[in-house]
Amino acid sequence: MNLPLHVAVIMDGNGRWAENRGEKREIGHLFGAKRVPAVARAFFDRGVRIVSLYAFSQENFRRPPIEVQGIFGCVEAFARSVETLGDDVRVIFSGEKSALPPSLAAACLAAEERTEVNKPFILNILIAYGGREEILRAARMLSGEKITEQNFRSALYADLPDPDLIIRTGGEKRLSGFMPFQSAYSELYFTDVLFPDFGDKDIEAALADYSSRQRRFGSLPPPKVP
Ligand code: FPP
Repeated sequence: MNLPLHVAVIMDGNGRWAENRGEKREIGHLFGAKRVPAVARAFFDRGVRIVSLYAFSQENFRRPPIEVQGIFGCVEAFARSVETLGDDVRVIFSGEKSALPPSLAAACLAAEERTEVNKPFILNILIAYGGREEILRAARMLSGEKITEQNFRSALYADLPDPDLIIRTGGEKRLSGFMPFQSAYSELYFTDVLFPDFGDKDIEAALADYSSRQRRFGSLPPPKVP
């Protein structure tokens, strides 16, 4: 099976999952957040080395404060108990930490520090992340320098290999500002499953679909053997 090294998930559908049950949207985020360690582990167990999860964009600050606080509470609880992921996972938070409430920013930083030496898996949580902002910020950081792909990549929030596969749950078919620089050649997979329901069989279906793709990176397919 042809496996992706780096899988990203746009975790959409939490709000609808809750509304379908007559619950407040925050409950959907809570159940989505509860799935995060198992989803990451399911990918790692199947040979994926890096998992990126889109938890909160800069545009998500436009949501009602109660919902924003709910999501931040989930991420803070996760950051504080990051050890439960296992001692083989390094956690990174990509985004504008200075835009976060100080206690959340501190919890994210502490979780990064506590897992810094862990290997071989990386869990990259995007929070207060803006895709365009990431590009503009890198360009500003390098102003006056000769920009190369290499130094530009090192000025992004996290200098990771590009996502090979981007999965979006919840039925919408768009990237919503997710890693616009890094996703140039990513394979895309969309599923109607709402994130709190996203389970092992959905993960296997996404990986099997990826495995059947032929990635060409702008080149031609290999010639057919007669
Ligand atoms: C999109 O669903 C989801 C979000 C904006 C938040 C996702 C955050 C989490 C799952 C919590 C993150 C926690 C950790 C531990 C990383 P939506 O609210 O837009 O859903 P809808 O389209 O059904 O309204």
